[in-house]
Amino acid sequence: MTFHHIDFYRHLLNKLKVGIVIMDEDRRIHYVNEKGQRMTGWEVGEKVPYCTYCQSRTVLDGQERCLLATEESMDYFQAEMPVYQGKYMPFEMRLSSMHLQDGKKMMVLMIKDPSEKETRQVRKLLIQETLLAQEAERKRISQELHDVIGQNVFSIYLGLQSLRPVINQTQYCSLYEKMEELLLRTITDLKQMSKKLRPPSLDMLGLNSAIEAMIDEWKSLYDVDITFKTDLKSERLDNVTELTLYRVIQECLHNAIRHGEANRIIIQLYEYGQYVYFRVCDNGKGFEYHPDLEAKGLGIRHMRERLQSVAGELVIESQTGGPTVIDGYVTIKSG
Ligand SMILES: Nc1ncnc2c1ncn2[C@@H]1O[C@H](COP(=O)(O)OP(=O)(O)O)[C@@H](O)[C@H]1O
Ligand SMILES: [Mg+2]
Repeated sequence: MTFHHIDFYRHLLNKLKVGIVIMDEDRRIHYVNEKGQRMTGWEVGEKVPYCTYCQSRTVLDGQERCLLATEESMDYFQAEMPVYQGKYMPFEMRLSSMHLQDGKKMMVLMIKDPSEKETRQVRKLLIQETLLAQEAERKRISQELHDVIGQNVFSIYLGLQSLRPVINQTQYCSLYEKMEELLLRTITDLKQMSKKLRPPSLDMLGLNSAIEAMIDEWKSLYDVDITFKTDLKSERLDNVTELTLYRVIQECLHNAIRHGEANRIIIQLYEYGQYVYFRVCDNGKGFEYHPDLEAKGLGIRHMRERLQSVAGELVIESQTGGPTVIDGYVTIKSG
């Protein structure tokens, strides 16, 4: 699977929450994604109707009737569009033109459903608040684990060691050794748990170094080959974005190693315009992805919610036998 795989782009376009309609200069539709089809009912081959505003506006000789087709730098424009059987719906629309090599022009119409706007904004804020509260709680648990439980377990370990010389009977000796071993393991587990709950390197070093530290940690525990390619240009992204990308990549690694039993993972991070994209590929045993999975496990659901809260998305490509490719992006500058 590569970035040039046509099915991948089709899948990606169908996952988008905006309607995408590609039309030619005569407004004839060549492509419409699933969301666009659901919102408008328009089919490939039909012509895109004019909105109520353009239907009634005065146009000069030779001038385009469609406002969006003429004004180059128009942002989202609100108007009513004829949709199913004479019904009109209020949409927010934006149009981009593409000049093809043969001199023809194609136009891409992006349509947002305004009825979802308020719900989208409230949901986004709620998710961000919840996730920030969750991060704060994780930090607290991490501190408690490290400072209280960790210290107590270590004191028990020291106490146990001082008892060693007075234990003579063989049966107690082997019990003693088992307890000592278990305690040492508990100390290591506690350290790892508190590290995972709170990534200290993220606050201090930024995203790239924090991911590198996380990779080293996994490599020290499992026989896994992890490659990390990054071209992040921004010195530091804002806190929420860094944390989002860190947590999402952490979950991808966790799933690849624990569920997929992968031994080769590639992580890519790259910045383009106002977005940071990421891709995590693993050679593990893969799985059949279905949206219902997100109701069962929390990992994928949290990844998606985290990304959506920073104007991003997640796309999962996998099948039994692997490989698994997780793609996504976040928006770093609103524009
Ligand atoms: N990289 C992967 N390789 C194989 N299976 C995966 C992978 N990622 C997710 N899965 C499957 O999807 C399920 C849901 O994942 P997730 O939402 O992270 O929940 P959890 O990790 O808590 O089980 C996992 O239980 C696993 O069966
Ligand atoms: Mg998981």
